[in-house]
Amino acid sequence: MPATDLVQVVNLCKRRGFVFPSAEIYGGFRSTYDYGPLGVLLLRNVKDAWWRSMVQLRDDVVGLDAAVLSPPAVWEASGHLKNFTDPLVDCRNCHQRWRLDKLDDPRTCPNCGAKDSFTEARQFNLMFKTYAGPVEEDAAIAYLRPETAQGMFTNFLNVLQTTRKKPPFGIAQVGKSFRNEITPQNWIFRTREFEQMELEFFVPPAEAAQWYEYWCAERLQWYVDLGMPREMLRLRAHDADELSHYSAGTSDVEYLFPWGWDELEGIANRTDYDLTQHAQHSGVRLDYFDPATNERYVPYVVEPAAGATRAMAAFLLAAYDEDTVDGEARTVLRLHPRLAPYKVAVLPLSKKETLTPLAKELFRTLAPRFMCDYDDTQSIGRRYRRQDEIGTPLAVTVDFESLDDKAVTIRDRDSTKQVRVPIDRLVDEVAARLAF
Ligand code: GAP
Repeated sequence: MPATDLVQVVNLCKRRGFVFPSAEIYGGFRSTYDYGPLGVLLLRNVKDAWWRSMVQLRDDVVGLDAAVLSPPAVWEASGHLKNFTDPLVDCRNCHQRWRLDKLDDPRTCPNCGAKDSFTEARQFNLMFKTYAGPVEEDAAIAYLRPETAQGMFTNFLNVLQTTRKKPPFGIAQVGKSFRNEITPQNWIFRTREFEQMELEFFVPPAEAAQWYEYWCAERLQWYVDLGMPREMLRLRAHDADELSHYSAGTSDVEYLFPWGWDELEGIANRTDYDLTQHAQHSGVRLDYFDPATNERYVPYVVEPAAGATRAMAAFLLAAYDEDTVDGEARTVLRLHPRLAPYKVAVLPLSKKETLTPLAKELFRTLAPRFMCDYDDTQSIGRRYRRQDEIGTPLAVTVDFESLDDKAVTIRDRDSTKQVRVPIDRLVDEVAARLAF
């Protein structure tokens, strides 16, 4: 059973070293989070799984890593300076700030319950502004990107000219984005600093509708393939009044979070909006000449845009489970092996000198192939519980018999079943069991 309460996962993540409140020794810092020893592995695995599926396994997508800092001209052209705003209201009674469009009842303050206490809504731009260089003058204004997408539009020609790709083809990028969210909430679900995984897929305009359908199906399936229960996922098409300023159609992949259905990623038909805007503002022609038809056209863009940190939260919630093993309650993260921070834990039964050399040797044998943990603290039962709780699919136990029979025990996280395996077959056996 996936977690029904966010607190279950937040506590586990703090206790086991996945996610810490940022600057915690100073009391934390405004809904920012640090990813600990296990969180950094899980987040990296989420991003790697996305990259593998979107770039590595495809011959029609290439990667990019564009700058986070960018000049106002980019955001002027993209429409973000004008349109990337949320309606902000203040409660005159308790002085709390709210995003008007996210309130269940736009007349009642959720904090103090006051009626009709809100100020007029002000449009608040979500971009973080800073200065590039030592002087804080208008000419030095720069913005932290609020989406990775624009770097892919501004590099459209560079990529086209250097890769010999032609539409339909895509540019993929994973990286940090920043939004000065009015109400960051639900742990790492909505933060001001977060990571995105975005694909801009450039297509002949006549093919946009068909590619939009294709990417909606493809992206939903990605979450299912990585272990999310299908019934906790859905695709929801945006109503016309929800659409972003650039979109001719958007569907969200939603997950059934503890607080209800909410967005994991958006798939949008951005039309030729971005390339046209950047061409107009930069004076550089951003189109494609098709030698087969002798026609020049501005490609349409279909964009699957996911959040890496948000996906990580959902994968944790979906994987969380509590069950009973031999009459003892345990918490287990049933993470897909591709996502699990550690694939294998090497556990010598005892800390005794006699077992350590063999256990260390097994760690050195497995570590080049699989991310491994080595743990020789506490009782073996407690170590199994710990590995279950952090989602390690396999535990390899080295016992005193191992010295004689040259075999070890492999324990499976989900079934807790144990099998004896000869050491010289261990790597193959682990690879077969992880099967990804
Ligand atoms: N380029 C299109 C774009 O950025 P978006 O729907 O605003 O679209 C895409 O963002 C994804 O990025 C979202 O579905 C979500 O997963 C993630 N995301 C957006 N804002 C976020 C925030 N404040 N914190 C965490 N993730 C966020």
